[in-house]
Amino acid sequence: MSEIRIRNEKESDRARISEIITLAFENDPISDKREAEIVRLMRDDSALSISLVAENKDKIVGHIAFSKVTINDECIDWYGLAPVSVDPRFQSKGIGSKLINEGIKLLKKINAKGCVLLGEPEYYGRFGYKANAQLILPGVPAEYFQALAFSHSIPSGTVKYHHSFG
Ligand SMILES: CC(C)(COP(=O)(O)OP(=O)(O)OC[C@H]1O[C@@H](n2cnc3c(N)ncnc32)[C@H](O)[C@@H]1OP(=O)(O)O)[C@@H](O)C(=O)NCCC(=O)NCCS
Repeated sequence: MSEIRIRNEKESDRARISEIITLAFENDPISDKREAEIVRLMRDDSALSISLVAENKDKIVGHIAFSKVTINDECIDWYGLAPVSVDPRFQSKGIGSKLINEGIKLLKKINAKGCVLLGEPEYYGRFGYKANAQLILPGVPAEYFQALAFSHSIPSGTVKYHHSFG
């Protein structure tokens, strides 16, 4: 496969980003199919802190979003990774990993203190994410809620994503 390029989203990418997200989650049995809408709502609310696309031959084949989260209702420079999506025809080629790694790099650049996500420990463990008893997302199995801290101190408390997540 030719070179994959990761770059920030542009206004003209928006429709294709929605399409990619919808395609990626289409067959996911635990998805509520709101992922594309969540990204649109966060963008409209200027809450998409980082929004990257993966391009293959000038065609977008993947997307990742990061937004601020609160911990015990305080904004302390922690972020949430969600959602990450790769066109099913291009999955398992390392594109998801490239998006996640580039996202981590950019988070560090903007002085983020850490990042949380809800997902498969088997996948996200390879990027250093791990479940942490101090950080709680109510209503989800603790082992699926994982954190990656960019400093030694990890806060404790209840995490809230942007209100568009519902
Ligand atoms: C999750 C996703 C973004 C990964 O992107 P990708 O480009 O396929 O990932 P990579 O090529 O970097 O990594 C592929 C590896 O991850 C594994 N993997 C992917 N999704 C996984 C999951 N849900 N659970 C466990 N492992 C998973 C693959 O089996 C593969 O393993 P291998 O490296 O041992 O072969 C992509 O599969 C996707 O869009 N899935 C649907 C949407 C989704 O579930 N998003 C995550 C929740 S926000």
